Amino acid sequence: MRTTLITGANRGIGLEFSKQFAADGWRILACCRYPEKSDALNKLAAMYPDQITVHTLDVANHEQINRLAQTLASKSIDLLINNAGVYPGPMGYSFGDTDYEAWAQAFLINTMAPLRMAEEFADHIKRGNQKIIVTITSKMGSVADNNRGGSYIYRSSKSAVNMVVKSLAIDLKSIGITAVLIHPGWVRTDMGGPDGLISTKQSVSGMRNIISQISLADSGKFFAYDGQIIPW
Ligand SMILES: NC(=O)c1ccc[n+]([C@@H]2O[C@H](COP(=O)([O-])OP(=O)(O)OC[C@H]3O[C@@H](n4cnc5c(N)ncnc54)[C@H](OP(=O)(O)O)[C@@H]3O)[C@@H](O)[C@H]2O)c1
Repeated sequence: MRTTLITGANRGIGLEFSKQFAADGWRILACCRYPEKSDALNKLAAMYPDQITVHTLDVANHEQINRLAQTLASKSIDLLINNAGVYPGPMGYSFGDTDYEAWAQAFLINTMAPLRMAEEFADHIKRGNQKIIVTITSKMGSVADNNRGGSYIYRSSKSAVNMVVKSLAIDLKSIGITAVLIHPGWVRTDMGGPDGLISTKQSVSGMRNIISQISLADSGKFFAYDGQIIPW
């Protein structure tokens, strides 16, 4: 059975990844900050008791990441999905209105955590068959695409994680691990809001389609959910 570890699996895009991979027969290591409050995820796990296990993980907490990697030391992971993310606001949207503490926290979650996860889980992934790390980024982190300004915190944290994953792709190529970035589209979730252009179902179906086709030759690429390449 193929195995995926998903961060922020309790709602939004992470929950939809869990649903679709479970329906497809995968084993899911579903991570979230507060399992006891994650009703939708617990309900899903109860539907797939042989496939889904729920694990406590605040990705800003390196000790927790380390502890989880040790707890799962005997497991192979085919696919790590660094999905957990924050869009701090409203402070940080516009010039002169920046919450610097929120910026530091966003960097911990959006930028540093994907690298820490890769460092702690590289051995598990090396033992998997597919050996893929997907980091969910955003088109808002594309420098080339920025023609509206603002959103300093979110944009910079996603641009920075793009660079993290580019280096990761180069560094992990020799051990056969593929690391890519995917922009999920503007999705109707708590983060994307009700005006988002696509549903979680459409977004995740598109991203799963990419995941099913990529190989080591694609490592370091910045995809949109529909398979297009986004300029840096
Ligand atoms: N929705 C969009 O339009 C859109 C567009 C571009 C990129 N993205 C990216 O897609 C990813 C998922 O976003 P979404 O739309 O599903 O957002 P969401 O509905 O707000 O969900 C965010 C998820 O991240 C988790 N999370 C936040 N901080 C965490 C932490 N410190 N440790 C562990 N988990 C944490 C949340 O858990 P809690 O419930 O515990 O807070 C939740 O599960 C993010 O990386 C986001 O930046 C989304």
